[in-house]
Amino acid sequence: MTDLRDAAERLSRPELEALQLERLRATLRHAYENVPFYRRSFAAAGVRPDDCRTLADLARFPFTDKEDLRENYPYGMFAVPESRVARIHASSGTTGQPTVVGYTAHDLDVWADVVARSIRAAGGRPGDRVHVAYGYGLFTGGLGAHYGAERLGCTVIPASGGMTGRQVRLIQDLRPRIVMVTPSYMLTLLDEFERQGVDPRSTSLEVGIFGAEPWTEEMRREIEERFAIAAVDIYGLSEVMGPGVAQECVETQDGLHVWEDHFLPEVVDPSTGEVLPDGAPGEVVFTTLTKEAVPVVRYRTRDLTRLLPGTARPAFRRMARVTGRSDDMIVLRGVNVFPTQIEEVVLRTPRLAPHFQLRLTREGRLDALTVLTEARPGSTREERTAAARAVAAAVKDGVGVSVTVEVVDPDTLERSTGKVQRIVDLRR
Ligand code: DLL
Repeated sequence: MTDLRDAAERLSRPELEALQLERLRATLRHAYENVPFYRRSFAAAGVRPDDCRTLADLARFPFTDKEDLRENYPYGMFAVPESRVARIHASSGTTGQPTVVGYTAHDLDVWADVVARSIRAAGGRPGDRVHVAYGYGLFTGGLGAHYGAERLGCTVIPASGGMTGRQVRLIQDLRPRIVMVTPSYMLTLLDEFERQGVDPRSTSLEVGIFGAEPWTEEMRREIEERFAIAAVDIYGLSEVMGPGVAQECVETQDGLHVWEDHFLPEVVDPSTGEVLPDGAPGEVVFTTLTKEAVPVVRYRTRDLTRLLPGTARPAFRRMARVTGRSDDMIVLRGVNVFPTQIEEVVLRTPRLAPHFQLRLTREGRLDALTVLTEARPGSTREERTAAARAVAAAVKDGVGVSVTVEVVDPDTLERSTGKVQRIVDLRR
């Protein structure tokens, strides 16, 4: 069998670490020399780029967080002259000021390479047709996937998000082998296949590359089963690059290999910032190793996961599925609840559709959580009552909090067209 991996994917761990150190030192110098923010933050921490002599020395450098990016909006974090910036993207900006990021031509080139590598790890090959249903625009999902698929030598169908009826039609007529979309929008497509009377298992699709939001093993099973495809995870964030920071390999489906030749991960204790050993759960922090336009040093993602040893790509450590963002954590009577924990329960409960919403209200001085779930078509009133009880009991048991569960009629909860918003906060 021919080895389709690129040269970097075949490095040994010591070779990779040597490359990382060289690139890390260059990045620290580049950031320090060209971005006043880093000059100030390094000075405040009493470090200079040359103080980084080993990879472990990175821990002496200060973190960068979303607030720093906001304060330097729009161009304060850029490390190259405007004339070298080839593209702008922005983060979703669901809360407050958006953050803007930029790419040089070389950054775009690297990005296309890592996404091509990701699609290949997902089982994609030159000549495959790839249906991209991530949104195109300031969001990095659509264009990121697009150029990566082109780089691999695929035929791209740039569907973007929305117009769900047409997506189904395009998938049937154009016969893509791969779909790239958020897992929640894939479920919306599933409904639409069924509404049009088309068996979702009968399509040409063989692989789905899903990301941009947290999802669970239960959701993987649901999607794989209902579409008869292999489903793999892709991770990334605009502040670091976009999709393609880490990718799950289809042959192992055991978590996301971080493309560590370009993005150096650390996992830290979210409250103390202390670097945690591999395997320990915490917040993943990234330092870019090759980015020119907007290098980031120790960027706090707020995404919770842990680092694991490499498998299908031995030199590249994996990150476990992201449990959630610390921002999306609900604290209910002292217990931390993540939407993914509810997802696991809902998707395991018979007679419930794989859709749910979390409604936060205040009763007196206490917060209360209602889980809205949806009955599968044809379920009886008794089945719905039993399902509601089962969810409440499983959440009480597994998560340790009491929630109210409502089972609504089929097709009533709002469907996702991109990143799903699970939490509706009615407390104010
Ligand atoms: O969502 C980039 C992306 C596009 C990744 C398409 C994968 C596929 P942002 O809009 O900046 O960028 O949002 C980044 O989304 O910090 C995570 O909280 C979340 N996220 C992204 N991928 C995953 C994933 C894109 N596979 C934020 N699992 C990140 C869980 C994810 N969360």
